[in-house]
Amino acid sequence: MAVDGPDIGRALDQGVSARLENAGGYQVVLDHLGDAGSRQLIATPALVCDFAVLMENIERMATVAALGGVSLRPHLKSHKSAFIARRQLDAGAVGLSFAKLAEAEAVVERLAADGDPSSLSVLLTSPIVGISATTRAAALARRCELMIVVDHVGGVDEVAAVLDEATSITVLCDVDVGQGRTGVTGPREALAVVARIVQCEGLEFGGVQGYGGHLQHLVGRDERRAATVAAMNRLRVVVDELEDHGHEVGLRTGGGTGTTSIDIELGLLNELQPGSYVFMDREYRDALRDDPEGRFGRSLSLATSVVSANHTGFVTVDAGLKSMATDAGAPTVIGLESQCEYRFFGDEHGLITNPSGPPFERGDRLHLLPAHCDPTVDRYDDIWLVEGDVVIGVIDVVARGCSQ
Ligand SMILES: Cc1ncc(COP(=O)(O)O)c(C=O)c1O
Repeated sequence: MAVDGPDIGRALDQGVSARLENAGGYQVVLDHLGDAGSRQLIATPALVCDFAVLMENIERMATVAALGGVSLRPHLKSHKSAFIARRQLDAGAVGLSFAKLAEAEAVVERLAADGDPSSLSVLLTSPIVGISATTRAAALARRCELMIVVDHVGGVDEVAAVLDEATSITVLCDVDVGQGRTGVTGPREALAVVARIVQCEGLEFGGVQGYGGHLQHLVGRDERRAATVAAMNRLRVVVDELEDHGHEVGLRTGGGTGTTSIDIELGLLNELQPGSYVFMDREYRDALRDDPEGRFGRSLSLATSVVSANHTGFVTVDAGLKSMATDAGAPTVIGLESQCEYRFFGDEHGLITNPSGPPFERGDRLHLLPAHCDPTVDRYDDIWLVEGDVVIGVIDVVARGCSQ
């Protein structure tokens, strides 16, 4: 059957009401907010965050940055939450980093509820392309202080073309420090990009971005440090070339959770953009172990329930492939890491081997440490905040799915 305009309208209405009905189901928990044992009422699978650990992580990173003499611009791609962003700003962050325009639009809109966001400094860390994106960037630049990155003269021209007299955007040159994902590949290319930026009305050259995604999870601090030195040397060559040609490179931004203290020690970056430190995940725990960069607490877990326990040796839980990102492998069972193993058991289910003592029973709740927090968080509308077994609140993953 052809779907005409009004039908599309009804379909949208149904989608919205389904979401609201779902939210209505939360009432059971919300009625018991602050009550002992309320954590057991959360429908699973669900993301649960230990609020005290989250706040400690936020404070700790703010202190690390302040003591290291660098600015902190946390990356929102990990939590996608305006609530957590507010806490990071309150703790001293100079602004926020976003991977995608839509994430920034959603969070800026939500933060506007606190007051005028015009002095909020927003960095978009991925290059944008095409008129749709540049027009949206110009609109965002009228709401907040926007910085974008470019890695090609074509990108400079595209954004300059949509600016009116009243709009200005600060532009950073994105430099490839060895990952090969985005960024100019060398000093000559950087010079061409920056020369074009300074020619364009409405654009201001702000500095460089050099983010090494390939460095963050390297196992072993010596290996990670050596690779970071090589990456920062690539950035230094570009900075020197630009400054030799009279371009002041005010901002040198980059870095992630895995390289924080190495970046501070090397001294080239004057602004860091870590994201995962707020939650930490299995991948980071395995990579960083007791290294200084790893001294953040695990605040995020994935609550799952045993839905079937009819076999010897294992039970079936309600968190499967659809409940978490799988790029970094399986989660671990928190508190039972050496005794129990989680295995994927289809779209909707997981298998967890029984511990050596009494086996799990139907209805038991277990807590998983997600292997990779960012794409796991993106699968949930909400994160429950807890203190022990007490639910103290629920926050909205406002930029969930904002991938454009
Ligand atoms: C450009 C950029 N900056 C910062 C980060 C944050 O890194 P992490 O989550 O490892 O702290 C990322 C993560 O992918 C990123 O892509």
